[in-house]
Amino acid sequence: MVLPKNFPHVEILADKTEITKHALAIVLELYQQSIAARGQFTFVASGGSTPKALYQALAKQNLDWQKFQVFWGDERYLPATDPQSNQGMTRTAWLDQVSIPSENIHAIPTNNADPAIAAQEYTNHLAEFFDLAPGEFPSFDLILLGIGDDGHTASLFPHTDALKISDRLITVGQKDGQPRITFTCPLINQARQTLFLVDGESKIQALKEVFDPSSSSQQYPAKLITGNVTWLVSQSASPDQVELRLKRS
Ligand code: 6PG
Repeated sequence: MVLPKNFPHVEILADKTEITKHALAIVLELYQQSIAARGQFTFVASGGSTPKALYQALAKQNLDWQKFQVFWGDERYLPATDPQSNQGMTRTAWLDQVSIPSENIHAIPTNNADPAIAAQEYTNHLAEFFDLAPGEFPSFDLILLGIGDDGHTASLFPHTDALKISDRLITVGQKDGQPRITFTCPLINQARQTLFLVDGESKIQALKEVFDPSSSSQQYPAKLITGNVTWLVSQSASPDQVELRLKRS
C-alpha cells in the first residue's frame, strides 16, 4: 500500500475488520520506512475499543521489536492494572505477547498525586528520548487516534483548557471532572503520520461535524488535528461517503 500524498485522506471501509487490515498495512509500511530512514519506529498508541483489534494483529507479527518504540497519546489517571487503562489494554492485547524490551515501552506515569507533575514527567521523558532543544516538538512516525461521539480525540475534550495549550508537549485534560494526561494539539500535529480509526454508528454525527468547515473546533476537537492525517472510517460510521471525501480533500 502506498500512502496518499495529499492529506487529509479519507478511506471508507466495509467494517472494523477492514479497518484493522488497512491499519496494519499502514503500520507495517511506516515501520519499514522509519527504520530504513532513522533506525527505529516511534509509534503512539491510542485507547478506545477500535484499535484493540489492531494491537491483537500486531501481536502476531514477527517484527524487530528492538526497533519498535511504543508511546501513548493519552491516558486515564489510573493504575495500569485498572480495566480502563490504555496502557493495560495495549499490554494485554499486544505488548505482553511479543519480545519487546521494557525500555521500548514508554508508559504515561499515573502514580503521582498531582497529574500536572505526571504530565511534566512524561514531557521530560520525551525531551530526553528525542534529545529535544527547549521549545522543540518531536515528530513521531505514527500517532494513532480515535474520535469520541462528542468529537474528542486523545483526551482533548470539548471546551476544555487542554485544547488551547500550545507551549508544551503534554498536558492534563479533563473528562467529567476526572484528570487525563494527553498529548497537546501541536505535538500531535507535528507527527509524520496521524491515523484515525473510526467505527460504529455512534460516530456519524461527530464525523459530520468534524468534516464540516463551519463547525466549531472547540466543540469538535478532532478538527484541531491537521498535517498528515489519514482517516479509516467504516461504512457504519460514515455520514455520507461522498460528502466526507469532498469536504476534507
Ligand atoms: C481513549 C481515547 C479516545 C478514543 C475515542 C474513540 O483513551 O479512549 O483516547 O480518544 O480514541 O474515544 O474510542 P473508540 O475506539 O472506543 O470508539
